[in-house]
Amino acid sequence: MADQTTTQANDAAVVAGDTAAAGTIDAASGAGAAVAADGAAGDRPVKIVGIVCNWCSYAGADTAGTGRFKQPPNLRLIRVPCTGRVDPLFALKAFEKGADGVLISGCHPGDCHYSEGNYYARRKFELLERMIHHLGIPKERFRWTWVSASEGQRWQQVVTEFVAGVEKLGPREGRAL
Ligand code: FES
Repeated sequence: MADQTTTQANDAAVVAGDTAAAGTIDAASGAGAAVAADGAAGDRPVKIVGIVCNWCSYAGADTAGTGRFKQPPNLRLIRVPCTGRVDPLFALKAFEKGADGVLISGCHPGDCHYSEGNYYARRKFELLERMIHHLGIPKERFRWTWVSASEGQRWQQVVTEFVAGVEKLGPREGRAL
């Protein structure tokens, strides 16, 4: 578990550390390249980046693991303190780095351990969801949701459905942005 946590922390640092560069994305010129880049990239398994809050969804994923609920192995989790910490550019950076799908999950509304972090997050994610196709990334490759610490089964369902949807689209080729 310690190794896994270290890897996740390193992954988070990579995503977080590169967001300044991602902030310079020219959406208009990036869109065409992204459309071209969103073709199928062979038969490799899809890579999904999951960004989860420590208190609910990470614990929910843990509950699913402890309960031995079968899950697709395509997901790599990045643990953050709260979804309120998640900049939408984290998701775009993950796509730029080769993710085929990005899943963000946190505490249910009203359950955020920092009171209102997920309310701020919800506004940002809704906006990204509406805009993402302008960058040539089908919105089916991005999902945000809420999963609590006790909802291991819901976590399994969310991950299974999301991965299946991304698999239908296939792996992405090249960088989108
Ligand atoms: Fe989980 Fe804020 S602590 S969303």
